[in-house]
Amino acid sequence: MSDSPVRIGLIGAGGIATAHVAGYRLNTDTIVLAAVADPVAESAEQRAAEFGAAVFADYATMLAEADIDAVDICLPHHLHRDAIVAAARAGKHVLCEKPLCLTVEEAREVTDAVEASGITVMCAHNQLFLPAVAKAKELLDSGLLGTVYEVRTTDSFFNDFNPDTMGWRAHAKTSGGGELIDTGYHPTYLLLHLAGGVPVETTAMLSTHRLTFMEGEDSAQVLVRFDNGVLGSIVTSWAYAASDTTERFSVVGELGSLFSDGTTLSYSLRDGRAEVLSFDPVHEFAAEIGHFADSIRNGTRPLHSHKEGIEVLGIILGAYESARSKRTVPVMRASDHPALAG
Ligand SMILES: NC(=O)c1ccc[n+]([C@@H]2O[C@H](COP(=O)([O-])OP(=O)(O)OC[C@H]3O[C@@H](n4cnc5c(N)ncnc54)[C@H](O)[C@@H]3O)[C@@H](O)[C@H]2O)c1
Repeated sequence: MSDSPVRIGLIGAGGIATAHVAGYRLNTDTIVLAAVADPVAESAEQRAAEFGAAVFADYATMLAEADIDAVDICLPHHLHRDAIVAAARAGKHVLCEKPLCLTVEEAREVTDAVEASGITVMCAHNQLFLPAVAKAKELLDSGLLGTVYEVRTTDSFFNDFNPDTMGWRAHAKTSGGGELIDTGYHPTYLLLHLAGGVPVETTAMLSTHRLTFMEGEDSAQVLVRFDNGVLGSIVTSWAYAASDTTERFSVVGELGSLFSDGTTLSYSLRDGRAEVLSFDPVHEFAAEIGHFADSIRNGTRPLHSHKEGIEVLGIILGAYESARSKRTVPVMRASDHPALAG
């Protein structure tokens, strides 16, 4: 294990960087913000000031000149692939906001660059660090529900975006689609995590109920079949909040079921046992950043690497194709790429 903190360069100092910077602030023993790159100087300087970090107008210069071990990519979606590839070629580890990238071709390029360089990539799948999610995964892995039959995940809220404030998210070319590849990424990686198998096929319906100025959908419902027999369903929307009793996630298996509203976790088993668990709140981005730092310092695999990032992307691209073609379609598999087969 390395004794020194990971020196990180932030690429993109916009909205979500606020949560990541809070994560650095809460993990000063293991990670330090050493550089920030953003063409908007005011944004970069504001993030850098607190840490005395170096400021760059572009990340290529930062990769060449800054004393950093890793980068944290918080860019608009269409810029993720190039930044990951550049970081990998510079030998820097990567923490990348969702989505990993936007297409099958981009996923191949990312995989090739990452495998050639041997760097570690972690997908910034922050909801995996919610205590209810971590506990649910532990209970499922312990066999509490026996064989799992179905998993459901929901992430829907009333989004007050308007055409003036939506920026790059309003356009498919820069966002990669609509709501599903943005907020919908969260319930998709959560489904993958809880299902515990490899996604093999998907079918989807997209809709636009309210945010009609978007090029992509504002809502989606997706079914996924996994290779271990689990069937998953995702409901996600920016048009409306879910009804009060809708699960954030739920799982049903041969021995019973579990349910979470995102904060508490309850299970009830066919043998009569039942429990409602509550948790101390956790700063999920601090937990995420801390996990990334530990993975780099200890040389351990992060919870979700580019392999899971590609599987999540595969479900979403499959869902888009299914909605277009009105068919059930196979999911691109990370294992289709030789470098990821192991
Ligand atoms: N995990 C979450 O809950 C969550 C929430 C919001 C956003 N996100 C993700 O975070 C990422 C960024 O979203 P955001 O809301 O912060 O977007 P944003 O538009 O607020 O910020 C993007 C930043 O990138 C900068 N930028 C653009 N081109 C650049 C370049 N070539 N080099 C360096 N900087 C550049 C912009 O100036 C801006 O400061 C997206 O992938 C998004 O999906 C995740």
